[in-house]
Amino acid sequence: MTIDRFDDESALSAALATYVLEQIVVRPSLVLGLPTGRTPLGLYRELRERSRGDRIDWSRVRTFNLDEFAGLPSAHPASYRAYMQAELFDHVSIDPANIGFLDGNAVDRTEECRRYEDAITAAGGIDLQILGIGANGHIGFNEPASGLRAHTHVAELERETREANADRFGGQWRNVPECALSMGMATILNATEIVLIATGAEKAEAVRGMVEGLITTRLPASLLQVHPRVTVMVDRDAWSS
Ligand code: PGA
Repeated sequence: MTIDRFDDESALSAALATYVLEQIVVRPSLVLGLPTGRTPLGLYRELRERSRGDRIDWSRVRTFNLDEFAGLPSAHPASYRAYMQAELFDHVSIDPANIGFLDGNAVDRTEECRRYEDAITAAGGIDLQILGIGANGHIGFNEPASGLRAHTHVAELERETREANADRFGGQWRNVPECALSMGMATILNATEIVLIATGAEKAEAVRGMVEGLITTRLPASLLQVHPRVTVMVDRDAWSS
């Protein structure tokens, strides 16, 4: 793992935006894996601003988001699809047909997970997967457990994760869906390159475990140690080692 340290969140976001846009210029049909949450907000702000006035051609870029809440239609304001539309997709020249997303409202969730895996494979796999990390070490909705799923699956959310998402649901963690659809560990580890971003002191312990600890399903991010091309971008607070 390569560790890139930044003074603060805005320096980190600016550096990652530069990297992503460079990749799009070099490879216009880049396949991007994208996260939601608080941490990537600065990245999406930078990408929006620097893509203004069609300065960056997103028309051939394809994206796959990590996860989506189960039981929410994509138009629901708390859905991750709504987050992505508001933070990025509505502001860049991406072709809606090139946006890959899990349908949280699918009647047959198992079939939906299979469809998603097939769509990623048909796109030729993910070139660059960007990840956040939960304070409990989760990536996507792969929560700490005695065993982890390899492929896209229906995941039960930890209370801690529901609490971390409560602000999208009127501040009430009980209103956060109990389940989500999420890429699995193999889906993530199959990406050619992975960049994980972490900011704030509440992530420091998980980051330390991910980088320095044993590989364990109790800290799903630690599995990234087996991947040959992972960069961990941290601000000062998230790097206490
Ligand atoms: P956050 O979430 O960016 O809102 O902290 C990260 C995650 O849970 O993966």
